Amino acid sequence: MGVLFRGIRALLPDMSIRETDVCVEGERILSLGEIPEGFAPDTVVEGKDRLLLPGLVNAHTHTYMTMFRGCADDLPFAEWLNGHIDPLEQRMTAEDCYWATLLGNMEMILNGTTASVDMFIYTETASRAAEECGFRTVLTRGLTGPEGGERRLREFFAEYEARKGRCSRVTFALGPHAPYSCSEAYLRQVADLAKEHGLGLHIHVSESQFEQTTVREQYGCTPAELLDRCGILGEKTLAAHCVWLSEADIALLAERGVSVATNPVSNLKLGNGIAPVPRLLAAGVNVALGTDGAASNNALNLFRELSFVALLHKGVTGDTTAVPAKEALRMATANGAKALGLEGCGEIRAGAKADLTVLDIDKPWLRPHTDILSSLVYCARGDEVCDVMVDGRFLLRKGELTTVDRERVLFEVDRTCRRLGLIK
Ligand code: NI
Repeated sequence: MGVLFRGIRALLPDMSIRETDVCVEGERILSLGEIPEGFAPDTVVEGKDRLLLPGLVNAHTHTYMTMFRGCADDLPFAEWLNGHIDPLEQRMTAEDCYWATLLGNMEMILNGTTASVDMFIYTETASRAAEECGFRTVLTRGLTGPEGGERRLREFFAEYEARKGRCSRVTFALGPHAPYSCSEAYLRQVADLAKEHGLGLHIHVSESQFEQTTVREQYGCTPAELLDRCGILGEKTLAAHCVWLSEADIALLAERGVSVATNPVSNLKLGNGIAPVPRLLAAGVNVALGTDGAASNNALNLFRELSFVALLHKGVTGDTTAVPAKEALRMATANGAKALGLEGCGEIRAGAKADLTVLDIDKPWLRPHTDILSSLVYCARGDEVCDVMVDGRFLLRKGELTTVDRERVLFEVDRTCRRLGLIK
C-alpha cells in the first residue's frame, strides 16, 4: 500500500515550496525527493498544477454546532446564548449531535482540514463520528461546575477509559469551559485530574470584556491569573480566544508554555474584539488557528480564518508586517499540531504522519504563480481542495468524500432541524 505524489509542489517545514516527489506508505510519509528503490505505489497523484500542504489543524471548534448554523445571527451575545443556543442544546439528543458532528467533519475535510480540537456535549457521539469518518480529533467534553460538574467528569472519564488507545486518531483532553462557567474549586479539581491522568487541557480564556469584568469583580484578578493559581496553565494547555489580555497575561501565558487558539471570525461575529496576536507571537507564545463553532462563525473553513488573521492585525496595528502570510499558515499547520500534542503532524517531512491536503492551484484567482504561499493565504477559499488524506488514507479523492455518506448526513441534519423548528 502506498501513494506517490509525483512532481508536486510541496510546502516544507521552513515554509518554502519545492517541487518534489512525495511517497506515502502506511500512515506515514516515507520520503521526499528520491523515490526509494522498490516503492510500488497503488495510487499516483500527478502534481501538475497541484500544491501539497500539511493538513490544516482547527485548534478550536464545537463541531456539533453546525446544527445551529444561521439560526441566531446578529443578536446581542446574551440573547444569542441564553435565548437561542442554550435552549436548543437542551433539546438536542446524542444522535442529533452525531449527525451534526459528521456534517462539521465533512465540511472540514472538504476545506482541507485533517484535525480538530472539538469541545462538545455528548462524548460518545463525537468519538464515533470521528472514528467512522477517519478524521483526527482531540475530544474535550465541555465541563462546567460545580452544578452538574461531577456528572460531567464521570461521563468524560467513562468515555475516556472505554475508548483510550482504541483509535490513534481520537485522543482526549479535559475541557473546563471557561473561568466564568467553572468555580475556582472546580478548576482546581480539573487541573489536578489532568495532572493525574497526563491529559491536556482546553479552555476558553478572556473571550469577552464581560468575562474580564466578571472575573475581576469576583476574584480581583484577570482570567489568566485566576487559571494560573488553579494550576490550569501549562505546556499541555490550549487556551481559546485570549482577546482581552493584559501585558502581564501575555507574559504569563508565554512563561507557562500555554498554546493559544485564535478565532478571528468568531471574535468579530460576537463583537468580542480582536486578539493581540502579534504581541503573543512576539512573546514567543505558540499561536494556532481555530474557527470556533458554526453558531458563532458560521463556517468551519480555515482558509477564511487564514486571510482574516493575516489581514486583521495589519488593519488594527497599522503595521503591514504584522502576521505575514507565512506566519498565518504556520498557525494553521505546525503550530496547531503542536498545540494539540499531535506528534508527527503539521509538517511535510519523511517520517511525519501522512495527514495531507492537495489543492488545485490552476484556479484563475491563484494565478499567476508568483508567490503561491501568499496567494494561498489571501486568495484561496477552500474549494480548491481536491484530495485530503489522514494517516495515509484518502478521506477526499478527486473532490469526492470517501468515508462520509454526504446525502445521508444532510438528510439526517435537516430532519433534526425540522424537529427543532429551525427549518420548515
Ligand atoms: Ni468556543
